[in-house]
Amino acid sequence: MPTIDQLVEQLRKVSDPELGRNIVELGMVKDLQIDAKGLVSFTLALTIPGCPMKSQMERDARMALLAMEGVKDVKITFGAMSEEDRRKILGNNQQQLPKLNAFNKIDKVIAVLSGKGGVGKSSISALLACALARSGKKVGILDADITGPSIPRLFGLPAGGLKGNDMGILPAVTHTGIKVISTNLMVPNEDAAVIWRGPMITGTIQQFWREVLWGTLDVLLVDLPPGTSDAALTVMQTIPVNGVVLVSSPQLLANMVVRKADSMLKQLNIPVLGVVENMSYYPCPDTGKQHLIFGPSHAEELAQAVNTDVALQLPINPSIAELGDTGRIEEATQPGLEKILELI
Ligand SMILES: Nc1ncnc2c1ncn2[C@@H]1O[C@H](COP(=O)(O)OP(=O)(O)O)[C@@H](O)[C@H]1O
Ligand SMILES: [Mg+2]
Repeated sequence: MPTIDQLVEQLRKVSDPELGRNIVELGMVKDLQIDAKGLVSFTLALTIPGCPMKSQMERDARMALLAMEGVKDVKITFGAMSEEDRRKILGNNQQQLPKLNAFNKIDKVIAVLSGKGGVGKSSISALLACALARSGKKVGILDADITGPSIPRLFGLPAGGLKGNDMGILPAVTHTGIKVISTNLMVPNEDAAVIWRGPMITGTIQQFWREVLWGTLDVLLVDLPPGTSDAALTVMQTIPVNGVVLVSSPQLLANMVVRKADSMLKQLNIPVLGVVENMSYYPCPDTGKQHLIFGPSHAEELAQAVNTDVALQLPINPSIAELGDTGRIEEATQPGLEKILELI
């Protein structure tokens, strides 16, 4: 059975194809172990979570280890390096590479926030993006809901398959040309749970902002994690947000949480462009009568509370749910968002 030192030596034969240096020297091998049955396990800390060279390095490491006598199986877990580790290994190398930010030209960043989940924040982010794209704007969506990403599903973008290299990560592009970045594009399948902890989430959001080749955008919409969690705060502190759209539902509870969000925004000095009360009423297809399924509207009241004149109400629209669930949100039309679109 090989010793840890021998395993390390063997892993020196595996290199990161992008950086041209071996994974041991790069400090990418962590928690290397071998058990009594010959199972070798370690964590491969990637320079970027969606590193396109990931599977090649995994295969090379597996083959190198399995070639050793006594090694029966290999289990590789993926992790990501901290900013500090990255800087250490990329060192001068990175300084020679132009910062990606230098290529990105993003005119406006608009974040979509809600007091709680399930009120239609992602659907409205997508509808806003679609409407802007239809009017000829160059649009991107940064899905900052790292542990509950749903933007790719709405647009029918497949899990995995995100491309990039050391210069940066390339966003996926929808049928109508909207650029999308999301953790759901990095996991092997749509149902894979992202159960990362705080620091990893923070790191990912920073990368989504700094290391994605967004190119020239008129508007970058940010689908925030629900509520006033740390994750939402991190996004607001990391990304220079120009304005926020608050999504709510008629339930008073949701509104109370939105008020909390408002106090967070005040502290950060970010203006609220408008309030969208989603699923505000159901227009009866036969009579046109508006039924207040979730109770009376609080849109105006809420708009006042957050200092905006724009209080919109969107109906319950089963076609949004259906088109969203089948990856065809770009085919949806939902009048009523015009006032906010004018402000973006
Ligand atoms: N106006 C609407 N009418 C009907 N269904 C909607 C509407 N807005 C959102 N939905 C549905 O409600 C569910 C939650 O919406 P989603 O956008 O994922 O919310 P969030 O991002 O706030 O968690 C989804 O199934 C979505 O299709
Ligand atoms: Mg969502």
